[in-house]
Amino acid sequence: TSRARITAIGSYVPERTLTNDDLEKMVDTSDEWIVPRTGIRERRIAGSDVFTSDLCIEAVRNMISEYQASTDDIDMILVATSTSDFPFPSVACQIQEQFGIPSAGTLDLSAACAGFVYGLNMADALVTSGLHRKVLVVGGETLSKVTDYTDRTTCILFGDAAGAALVERDENNPGFIHSCSGSDGRAGIHLYRTGLSGRMKGKVLSGDGNIVQNGREVFKIAVSTLTREVPRLLENAGISPDEVDWFIPHSANIRIIQAVCERIGFPMEKTLFSAEYYGNTSSATIPLALHQGVLEGKIKKGDTLLLYGFGGGFTHAGTLVRW
Ligand code: ACO
Repeated sequence: TSRARITAIGSYVPERTLTNDDLEKMVDTSDEWIVPRTGIRERRIAGSDVFTSDLCIEAVRNMISEYQASTDDIDMILVATSTSDFPFPSVACQIQEQFGIPSAGTLDLSAACAGFVYGLNMADALVTSGLHRKVLVVGGETLSKVTDYTDRTTCILFGDAAGAALVERDENNPGFIHSCSGSDGRAGIHLYRTGLSGRMKGKVLSGDGNIVQNGREVFKIAVSTLTREVPRLLENAGISPDEVDWFIPHSANIRIIQAVCERIGFPMEKTLFSAEYYGNTSSATIPLALHQGVLEGKIKKGDTLLLYGFGGGFTHAGTLVRW
């Protein structure tokens, strides 16, 4: 049993908006093509001199101001990102420096769009085990820096954002109910970001650091993975779907969410997603939707939330939490 709960949440998006109309001027596409296929209307784009650590730091600032959270006693910082400013130092170290957190471990983790939920699950485990007491979990990306804006099949999808949460020890009122994670490396070839060269399926892949994807395959894998794993998580937790107040899946694309809800028989009205106005922001989509749900008064204290991330790798991770 868990001895931890989420005690604070914050988020940040950069100011500049990239609309479907803007994209029409950049590639051969249209609002009429993008909206029915993805549900995305706008994304936020960071300036060329704004980096993932900047967005993450703003999300932490936002969380601190809304929850009057103190950062001095944070003893571990986990940052989920696929677009860290540097391979090292980690974004987690940049956050530690910015807030002058005196004694925290720092670690960036790589699980693509599932990263934030992986981070929450690891934070729960670290706190429940007694190794740590207060873990800062951040998911942040500047996907605009790794997006090819001449490729209409990918540039319509991605945006920049960050979200942050605190996971603290609470023995009397733990919030984590049940968690899971999994992966399938065979599907890695359908969605990857080149960096230094590497070999996949016997082929050396080198590139410009941008995202490469086979959208059709990604769509199918995302839908089949969530359709299989979400009911399994609920069953293992002994929770029925009608006990879930809000389902917050990774917001890659609203059509994926609709397809999953149809297949598992879960009402779309009880899902929260951030893709419509922010696009796919990878590890930031779930904390963004969660934070907005709280701000809008949809998520109430005591609600049962089902968070489920999936992403390149392929990776996936879910958690059921009491808010
Ligand atoms: N505007 C206009 N036409 C386009 C665009 C565009 N932006 N993109 C592709 N097309 C064209 C294609 O060139 C193709 O034309 P053709 O038939 O003449 O060759 C036609 O539209 C159909 O292309 P498909 O790729 O088959 O289109 P599909 O219906 O599969 O939609 C999409 C593409 C939206 C990318 C879809 O596959 C998808 O949503 N996949 C999931 C991708 C995703 O969400 N990835 C997120 C990252 S993954 C993650 O977060 C885990």
